[in-house]
Amino acid sequence: MAKEKTVFVCSDCGGSSPKWLGKCPSCNAWNTLLESVAETAAPTKNRFASLARTSAVATLGDIDAVDTERTPTGQEELDRVLGGGMVEGGVVLIGGDPGIGKSTLLLQALDSLQRSGQNTLYITGEESGAQVALRARRLGLNNSQVKVLAEIQLERILATLDATRPDIAVIDSIQTVYSDQLTSAPGSVAQVRECAAHLTRYAKANGRADAGAGSRATCIVLVGHVTKDGALAGPRVLEHMVDTVLYFEGDTHSSFRLVRAIKNRFGAVNEIGVFAMTEKGLKGVSNPSAIFLSQHAQAVPGSCVMVTLEGTRPLLVEIQALVDSGGPSPRRLSVGLDRDRLAMLLAVLHRHAGVACMDQDVFVNAVGGVRISEPAADLAVLLAITSSLRGKPLPKGFFAFGEVGLAGEVRPAPRGQERLKEAAKLGFSVAVVPKANAPKKSIEGLTIHAVERVEQAMEVVRGLA
Ligand code: TYD
Ligand code: MG
Repeated sequence: MAKEKTVFVCSDCGGSSPKWLGKCPSCNAWNTLLESVAETAAPTKNRFASLARTSAVATLGDIDAVDTERTPTGQEELDRVLGGGMVEGGVVLIGGDPGIGKSTLLLQALDSLQRSGQNTLYITGEESGAQVALRARRLGLNNSQVKVLAEIQLERILATLDATRPDIAVIDSIQTVYSDQLTSAPGSVAQVRECAAHLTRYAKANGRADAGAGSRATCIVLVGHVTKDGALAGPRVLEHMVDTVLYFEGDTHSSFRLVRAIKNRFGAVNEIGVFAMTEKGLKGVSNPSAIFLSQHAQAVPGSCVMVTLEGTRPLLVEIQALVDSGGPSPRRLSVGLDRDRLAMLLAVLHRHAGVACMDQDVFVNAVGGVRISEPAADLAVLLAITSSLRGKPLPKGFFAFGEVGLAGEVRPAPRGQERLKEAAKLGFSVAVVPKANAPKKSIEGLTIHAVERVEQAMEVVRGLA
């Protein structure tokens, strides 16, 4: 194949240059020129009009909206984040730190897909076939029929896909794949983008009517590495190209792993799947609430349980706070929660409830390495802080949730009923919740204190202790 011409395109302004330069000639930005394949002479509008056949335009109401068919992977927690299973012609990107379990999870998923009659292909660029076989043996997947290809060259991968036509193909990882058309090194932004674009196009194209009768589109799973600053290596543009983006979270010191859907054209976002890494690979955890609560024999000061809603699933998480006398410039630190929000909550606490932490260090932490981004954690954070400041534990079986506004008001959290029911199911008995979330019918075993303002919440808690 003749080598295609490459140009260097600025990632900021889109300007191009025939050779690499440190500074973009169009916008003067430094270090923004990236290599990409040159488009062949752009046809003018008129040329399009005269030569191309027109494509059929359909009315939206007339198009058959067939629900996408999903193939369950046999890993219930993975299916949950995928929105039910792999979708034909879908492209999934799985990101995560090295060693977190991406390859393990995908090998387990491929094996059960193969056992359920799907044609699978595992393309490995990081490990040799022997290493993959070793891992399969460790996972207890004896006699696995998953096909393995150790290859990193894009054109050969595409040719193999075309010849074998698997239902599901995993590329582990996209950073190791390179195309002959570009001179930049594998893993560079240009290579990653180009290779991902080709693979995406392949997944989308080969299930069409012109691909021959009975042919099925391939579902492609790309494994992506995360850079030091936490972004998927290579450009964020990968996230735009694919249908589903999943991230592995959790620290490698604990055995629990969360898989979170960041984007999903075929399902809900922010859905999480919970796994435990065992000696024999990843096992789904179907009742994860217990993981994020630490086991205290007695109630301790500075701890408040909240119910967060991750995707469709309520999850009980313990929020811990430590308030300690600080130096001249007291510190505010948070792990798993937003730090700016913590500063805001401390101001609200002072102004509206008269609780001052001005000369105190304040640390807050969400137990179990979980990250909470929703504001419904506010009330629990405030209660944990005051509990630590006063050295008084909250009562046993207590939990709280609700957003706190700058005016000191307590705002409702979405889907409050589900949160309350989940907590009741796990044996929690006392709650402080926003007034709008208080249920009309009482929930068995649960005493609910509905509040409208922060000071009211403090009052209720003081009465309970
Ligand atoms: P791996 O899937 O190779 O991570 P990634 O592909 O995301 O880089 O996971 C490797 C880690 O998982 C490694 O530290 C060993 C551990 N592990 C287990 O604890 N149990 C197992 O059964 C397997 C296969 C790996
Ligand atoms: Mg790996």
